[in-house]
Amino acid sequence: MKAVVFYGIGNIQVDEVAEPVIELPTDAVIKITASSICGTDLHMVRGTMAGMKSGTILGHEAVGVVEKIGQSVFNFKVGDRVVVCSTIACGDCVYCKAEEYASCDRANPNGPDAGTAFFGGPEATGAFNGLQAERARIPYADSVLVAIPKNVTDNDALLCSDIFPTGYMGAEMANIKKGDFVAVFGCGPVGQMAIAAAKQMGAREVFAIDTVPDRLAMAEKQGAITIDFEKQDPIKVLKDLTNGFGPDACIDAVGIDAERPHGGPADNNGLLGMIENIIEQKLVAPVSVMTGEQWRQGDGPSLVLQWCVEAVRKSGVVSIIGVYPETAKFFPIGAAMNKALTIRAANCSHRKYIPKCLKVLQDTSFKPSKILTAFEGLGDAISCYKHFDKREEGWLKVELIPAEDLSLKS
Ligand SMILES: NC(=O)c1ccc[n+]([C@@H]2O[C@H](COP(=O)([O-])OP(=O)(O)OC[C@H]3O[C@@H](n4cnc5c(N)ncnc54)[C@H](O)[C@@H]3O)[C@@H](O)[C@H]2O)c1
Ligand SMILES: [Zn+2]
Ligand SMILES: [Zn+2]
Repeated sequence: MKAVVFYGIGNIQVDEVAEPVIELPTDAVIKITASSICGTDLHMVRGTMAGMKSGTILGHEAVGVVEKIGQSVFNFKVGDRVVVCSTIACGDCVYCKAEEYASCDRANPNGPDAGTAFFGGPEATGAFNGLQAERARIPYADSVLVAIPKNVTDNDALLCSDIFPTGYMGAEMANIKKGDFVAVFGCGPVGQMAIAAAKQMGAREVFAIDTVPDRLAMAEKQGAITIDFEKQDPIKVLKDLTNGFGPDACIDAVGIDAERPHGGPADNNGLLGMIENIIEQKLVAPVSVMTGEQWRQGDGPSLVLQWCVEAVRKSGVVSIIGVYPETAKFFPIGAAMNKALTIRAANCSHRKYIPKCLKVLQDTSFKPSKILTAFEGLGDAISCYKHFDKREEGWLKVELIPAEDLSLKS
């Protein structure tokens, strides 16, 4: 079958690989009908989330149809339409029972302290083969798969595989109360979902910070007030728009590949700041691309964390859903402590949030698929990755469709 395979930093290919099989009685094999590319995949190809094993199939967002089940899979039968949880959880350990699925004690073969297990990630997260493929093996299928309700389309369900639940969790961790001011840093797919969820939870105003025009335009379409960090100083604008207080909560939906401004009033880095940034870039990702257009590491790894802490009001909340690797050690703890902030950070516990997100889709007119801007064949995945990596216009969120389903859809 065809799949997107990681071979090294900046080196991914669509290749022929072996079909997955049932390895354990709790496994299922699904035929994937659509998958998508995520900012997390970009960190891995850029090298800012290191430790990928050559030959790993990428991707952790998909919908599909159950094709085979192991003897101990009871919740699903062949032919069921399913959305896959990006993170893998056993469903049965003490953490899973407490709905802390991202902290599952059993799913990561590297042991209970190894961190969240997910599809298509570095060795430390499994390594499990990913979902940008024609088929996939799903461990702990009863817990990792969620049935798609009849009236929810595949496109909407696909965005419930990772990014809507992550945005929803980001807004929930931000403790949004009716009438709150909320700032969302990053208007990529995850930021867009955080904006939507913050509005759904009653935010009075959502401020959305980025610099990519079509991403800012999408945020504005969702009702956010946008701030272009290359043209405006986000901290000043956020204070001005909240009577000098700062937002009640700031959500980081950018992560380790944050960019610093290269002009405008927020570009106040100076020579020393630039040197600091380069040292930080090297510390978080010793092997990475630091110049050029493609697969380039962000040049302000902790900038969004600093902005969140600086912008948020005293006693406010910073909710971190952008991904940071273990090598990221820069956080403005002094300022956070002195402002009495609440800091929340997590990989999404998808098994907890996907059912909530599917319910939102059933109960409201919200369609997360509105952010899907490109539908391409799985065979063209590498050029899609390249466009998405460069944040080109029209490449906000890419759906990848295996050849068989592409011919059915066209
Ligand atoms: N916590 C989780 O479980 C979880 C799940 C999915 C994705 N993520 C993470 O969420 C983050 C966003 O994912 P995505 O798919 O939207 O990625 P993306 O790369 O498409 O989006 C990031 C956006 O941030 C913007 N940006 C860069 N520097 C900025 C700055 N200084 N200020 C404001 N905006 C800035 C970029 O222009 C881009 O639009 C990634 O780190 C991804 O790994 C986390
Ligand atoms: Zn993702
Ligand atoms: Zn568990």
